[in-house]
Amino acid sequence: MTFIVAIDGLAGSGKGVLAKGISNRFNFSYFDTGILYRGLAYLSLKKHGENFTEDNVINIAKSYNIDEIDQQKIRSSVVSKYASVIGSIPEVREILTKIQRQFKEKSTNDNGIVVDGRDIGTVIFPNADVKFFISASIDERAKRRLNDFSQRNEKISYNQVIKQLQKRDQRDKERSVAPLVAAKDAHLIDTTKINKEETLEIASSLIIQKLDG
Ligand code: DC
Repeated sequence: MTFIVAIDGLAGSGKGVLAKGISNRFNFSYFDTGILYRGLAYLSLKKHGENFTEDNVINIAKSYNIDEIDQQKIRSSVVSKYASVIGSIPEVREILTKIQRQFKEKSTNDNGIVVDGRDIGTVIFPNADVKFFISASIDERAKRRLNDFSQRNEKISYNQVIKQLQKRDQRDKERSVAPLVAAKDAHLIDTTKINKEETLEIASSLIIQKLDG
């Protein structure tokens, strides 16, 4: 049985950083499921521009290989926006759900896997061994995102980032299929006032309890 850590949470909450930290500390394989949605949004925009239809996206998703996409190109604010938009298409979620579950089936890592996204603990791996739901204040998340964008030389204001995050949160939480919600058995961690090392310590002790149990 593969040991699974599922991490869900808001955009910019620090779930990716936490997932990487867990992967390093416990030697688990890491899967960032956001790249699937981002990659598909990127290809849809590239092929059809911003007026792509749901059918356009579904067709691309059917013969989709994330390994062929340059990871640097999927981090822009426009791709972030459309990743969340296409995430509300039920057929897209169905196709990407299969890819996410295959990651576990194909994993040869005997230690375990850590997977982050929006519906990992609720839909993709509801039987995960440990689940986390990560949040942080909108102000803190905007500051982190602004920092990411400035490292990529993307010019965007603090207010624009706040607006984008609010819209994305709303879309992710309100979609009819697999909305962003904490699983009932998830450990809630608010990272507003704690740094990444402290977050990793909190999560690690809960994982160790489960591994030892
Ligand atoms: O985690 P991220 O910021 O890279 O995700 C980008 C968008 O992709 C997010 O706003 C919604 C969508 N997404 C999703 O719907 N389900 C996931 N498991 C991961 C991402």
